[in-house]
Amino acid sequence: MISPDKDCRLCALCEGRTNLVLPSGDLDSPVVLVGEAPGENEDQQGAPFVGRAGQILNQAMEDVGLERSRVMITNTVKCRPPNNRDPEQSEMAACRKYLDSELSGRKAIIGLGKSAIRDLMGYEGPMGPVVNTRQYIEINGERILFIPTYHPMACVYRKAAREELRRTLAMVKEEFGL
Ligand code: URA
Repeated sequence: MISPDKDCRLCALCEGRTNLVLPSGDLDSPVVLVGEAPGENEDQQGAPFVGRAGQILNQAMEDVGLERSRVMITNTVKCRPPNNRDPEQSEMAACRKYLDSELSGRKAIIGLGKSAIRDLMGYEGPMGPVVNTRQYIEINGERILFIPTYHPMACVYRKAAREELRRTLAMVKEEFGL
């Protein structure tokens, strides 16, 4: 796995960075959850999903009995976008070699929300038709199962989205014996 060095200047997100946010959890897990981008808490602490979105993700994992330490968690970009805007295509492209190295050789990748789904699947349509479908994406010449699902923040006021996210997590727990 390769990671940007702490002085990385491959894109303009470096300007507002306090810390790079690198993957956490079981770095050898067969399953990787890919979020969008670090927020303020993540930038401060240098770890993914440690703020509000992380609490919602933790709750969904707890609901289905999947321990967070059994999966690897990362983001499309490793630096916080200004005002938490969506990462731009060019920023995701600049960071993509690191993401590819994180995903290489895994059994399943969970795309949490639109940015991850756009970056990894090239899909820009509505979420409904693709959530919890089994897609295959190519990472370093290898076909890997990709399951699009809702971002934890999309679950705050939407019970149906929360249920779909739980369904995704329950599915990978079962399929990969996590
Ligand atoms: N939202 C994300 O997509 N990733 C994080 O790490 C935190 C919030």
